[in-house]
Amino acid sequence: MSRDKITIRRPDDWHVHLRDGTLMSAVLPYTARVFARAIVMPNLSPPVATPALARAYRARILAALPAGTDFTPLMTAYLTDATAPDEIARGFADGSWVAAKLYPANVTTNATHGVTDVRKIDRVLSRMAEIGMPLLIHGEVADPAVDIFDREAVFLERELAPLMARLPALRIVLEHVTTRQAVEFVKDAGVNLAATITAHHLTINRNALFQDGLRPHMYCRPVAKREEDRLALRRAAISGNAKFFLGTDSAPHPVKDKECDCGCAGIFSATNALEIYATVFEEENALDKLEHFASLSGPRFYRMPVNSGTITLTRGEQFVPQEVATVRPFLAGERLPWRIA
Ligand code: DOR
Ligand code: ZN
Repeated sequence: MSRDKITIRRPDDWHVHLRDGTLMSAVLPYTARVFARAIVMPNLSPPVATPALARAYRARILAALPAGTDFTPLMTAYLTDATAPDEIARGFADGSWVAAKLYPANVTTNATHGVTDVRKIDRVLSRMAEIGMPLLIHGEVADPAVDIFDREAVFLERELAPLMARLPALRIVLEHVTTRQAVEFVKDAGVNLAATITAHHLTINRNALFQDGLRPHMYCRPVAKREEDRLALRRAAISGNAKFFLGTDSAPHPVKDKECDCGCAGIFSATNALEIYATVFEEENALDKLEHFASLSGPRFYRMPVNSGTITLTRGEQFVPQEVATVRPFLAGERLPWRIA
């Protein structure tokens, strides 16, 4: 069934990098005009590792919002080997943050202060399980001996399954899943495990990194996988299964930091993320499931109310901008069949 218009409850982005300073001011309006709330990643330099740093970062985000924007940043704690259980609990209780992010040390951008061994922070995680605070995981092993395309699947077996066995009450979001194995793992697990899926991992497979040459703007972590993985992600996203919800992982880097000898990981999709998701759902004949994925399942996992407003997408040609403040958006210059009314 083809349709020209779809109205859904206002969505949230359950995983975004807003950065800081002038770059934040340039990218934030794209997220805030569409999404009512967003889980803001803490991988600044230095990392957002204390409640005071989280509150100060939130204040800078609110100050950078265009006038009249209705947007709530949901802050997260950056876990390190030195994180204290009391501080995590205190920041959760006083509203400084709503979740904590686990980066295995050195796994990606600004992950140098990440956790060197998950077992080292078991006391923190066990406190989080007690107080119902979600743990957000970048699910890749950092082990250079593991093939980069296998690092998510290996993480599931080596780290996530044992963690869930040690702390079955811990509520976990496996962020930006990229593999069929991760989809199956999340589906088969209990209600305490959910996952976010990005617009880019629903759109590209790893061929995109090498199409007619090396494509740094298609590089992110976890790196895109095989076509069979992309199709598994699509099936999960449109399934209506509340364990899978929207998280763009929009991660802007200036072009000069992408197009160089050691280009940064990160795909900036905030300019048109919802339209890209809508395009994917339409291609799958599942536009009726977009609202579940974008607006209903996330709040359910995070135990927050769904948003009261709505947003309407209409069919209508639109071109992704070529550049935003020296950052190249995902699908720059390409035509999208949906636009936000
Ligand atoms: O591609 C990525 N970029 N993956 C991450 O985990 C971090 C992010 C960033 O901050 O640039
Ligand atoms: Zn991310």
